Amino acid sequence: MRKIRSVIAAIIFVASGGIAVADGSGDPAALKQNETGEWLDKDGNPTYRINGDTVDWYTYSGYRRYHSDCHVCHGPDGMGSTYAPALKDSLKTMSYADFLGTVASGRKNISTAAENVMPAFGDNPNVACYMDDLYVYLRARSNDAWGRARPGKHEDKNEAYTKNEDSCMGKK
Ligand code: HEC
Repeated sequence: MRKIRSVIAAIIFVASGGIAVADGSGDPAALKQNETGEWLDKDGNPTYRINGDTVDWYTYSGYRRYHSDCHVCHGPDGMGSTYAPALKDSLKTMSYADFLGTVASGRKNISTAAENVMPAFGDNPNVACYMDDLYVYLRARSNDAWGRARPGKHEDKNEAYTKNEDSCMGKK
């Protein structure tokens, strides 16, 4: 299995032009920051930016949201459990769009005897308003850019972010 994996990794390495990226959304390098403080990659997908032990606001916020709404099933730090997959690994092949779709609509695994259910969170503002935060944190975990720790230092939450957050959560 290990050998097959390394052969597959080598093929992906060659196919991607020599840059070994195991990320369902491609190269996670942060290129620009939008007005809410969110970093974007070359394709405009949300990504993380971590400088030493200081993380961007989205990574920090995603860490907190993950550990309030997802970790019961998916395990602490995206490591997975006997019930639900390790999202740290899922994002190595899953794209940003697929992530949003799965979290909003949920999924039911009917291929196993035990019916494991991923709930739909599209109507839950505590999750739906923080989709990008969750994605960015898990993308950082998936690329080993952030380890199994609570981020300490982080960029500040800015005014544009707070405004979006309040309107999404239905506050004025
Ligand atoms: C009640 C338990 C439960 C909770 C809470 C939960 N999930 Fe899931 N999730 C699952 C199960 C079970 C699966 C696998 C479903 C399947 O195989 O069809 C899953 C699958 C997923 C997948 C697809 C993974 C893959 O490899 O295909 C994503 C992405 C995901 N969950 C994200 C989240 C996020 C983000 C949260 C928190 C907002 C969350 N889940 C909360 C149980 C849960």
